Amino acid sequence: MASLATRSQQALRSVSRRASQIAARVSTSPAQTATYSLLARTAVASAPRQPTVQNVRGIKTLDFAGTKEVVYERADWPLAKLQDYFKNDTLALIGYGSQGHGQGLNARDNGLNVIVGVRKDGESWRQAQEDGWVPGETLFPIEEAINRGTIIMNLLSDAAQSQTWPTVAPLITKGKTLYFSHGFSVVYKEDTKVIPPKDVDVILVAPKGSGRTVRTLFKEGRGINSSVAVFQDVTGKAMEKAVALGVGVGSGYMYETTFQKEVYSDLYGERGVLMGGIQGMFLAQYKVLRANGHSPSEAFNETVEEATQSLFPLIGAKGMDYMYNACSTTARRGALDWAPIFEKANAPIFEQLYESVKNGTETRKSLEFNGRSTYRTDLAKELKEIDDQEIWRAGKTVRSLRPDYKPE
Ligand SMILES: NC(=O)c1ccc[n+]([C@@H]2O[C@H](COP(=O)([O-])OP(=O)(O)OC[C@H]3O[C@@H](n4cnc5c(N)ncnc54)[C@H](OP(=O)(O)O)[C@@H]3O)[C@@H](O)[C@H]2O)c1
Repeated sequence: MASLATRSQQALRSVSRRASQIAARVSTSPAQTATYSLLARTAVASAPRQPTVQNVRGIKTLDFAGTKEVVYERADWPLAKLQDYFKNDTLALIGYGSQGHGQGLNARDNGLNVIVGVRKDGESWRQAQEDGWVPGETLFPIEEAINRGTIIMNLLSDAAQSQTWPTVAPLITKGKTLYFSHGFSVVYKEDTKVIPPKDVDVILVAPKGSGRTVRTLFKEGRGINSSVAVFQDVTGKAMEKAVALGVGVGSGYMYETTFQKEVYSDLYGERGVLMGGIQGMFLAQYKVLRANGHSPSEAFNETVEEATQSLFPLIGAKGMDYMYNACSTTARRGALDWAPIFEKANAPIFEQLYESVKNGTETRKSLEFNGRSTYRTDLAKELKEIDDQEIWRAGKTVRSLRPDYKPE
């Protein structure tokens, strides 16, 4: 696959050149980009707030392979309109993990009034201070932050949302809005016991990516794709508020869904192709190569390196057929023959996985594991086991040979 790799790299370079050109054309204009980036704070500090509300319509119905779906876009919410919309609100961001960090800093940089609530003197308290949240001013213990907030953004771990609910629930009083980034707590209420009060709007903005990506895309002047949903609409404005918050925390496009569909697809996807499935496939392929006498570097290159560095970016840029077309006729023929075999072998596993999500088994496991007081050390132990696998140890050396290598 050496020639394949070279051709793929050439194709990739040309694709990424074209992608940058397209991105430059379709992304927001330079002036607008600046308003959704770190520059926002400076702009807010130096310029008086513009109360003028612009009505650029940013709701689209798009055709996704024959199905019409509603998509909201940031263009509907210029910064002045966003700031005006939330001028009387305090966004109380509860929890400061990956999403708390990304969403909180983005909303703050967008000039919204944000405070953070976390356990005093925990790891998140320390990290929040590092990011400039000030105890007593913008950083508070959880209960105090909820009391001060009008929009309660529950970004605790899903297990912690359940554990803390008995103390959190009475503080979500009439007139406040309850926000989640996952349908987990509300949908699996039999297990989590999270039942929102009847007199508040309950909304969801779920960025489709890590909180770190939420932050980096925002800093680049781009926005992450997010799912957006309403569970309870008391004011009649719940969807509008959800979309505005989605923009506030750094979304570019928002896809309308329901709490249930969001959580089912999310739990399923991360256990499947996004994380669990990919680790399982990588490992199985690598082990068979090793058992047949291939060296660690050869097994790693043919399993992970070529996938992540050459072929997967082509799928991301223009789809699977495009990637197939960028490969040799030999590679293409074999892949065409073997794809249905893999599909058939994997379909029952995916069905089993979806059922396990739907019947709550996955939720109960997650609540048990992540609800332990030792959840951080228990996780670190299991991740260390992965890091110690030969495939990933070999990967470290392979990565060190990349031209742009930076010591890990
Ligand atoms: N990460 C993602 O890629 C992603 C993407 C989309 C949506 N989401 C959703 O966003 C939400 C937040 O996820 P996340 O990944 O940002 O955070 P996370 O790592 O799951 O949770 C971290 C936060 O929960 C707190 N916490 C844990 N146990 C606690 C307890 N018993 N009492 C009080 N606080 C506790 C931690 O505080 P300490 O530091 O004090 O332990 C920390 O602030 C979840 O609903 C998640 O499903 C996540």
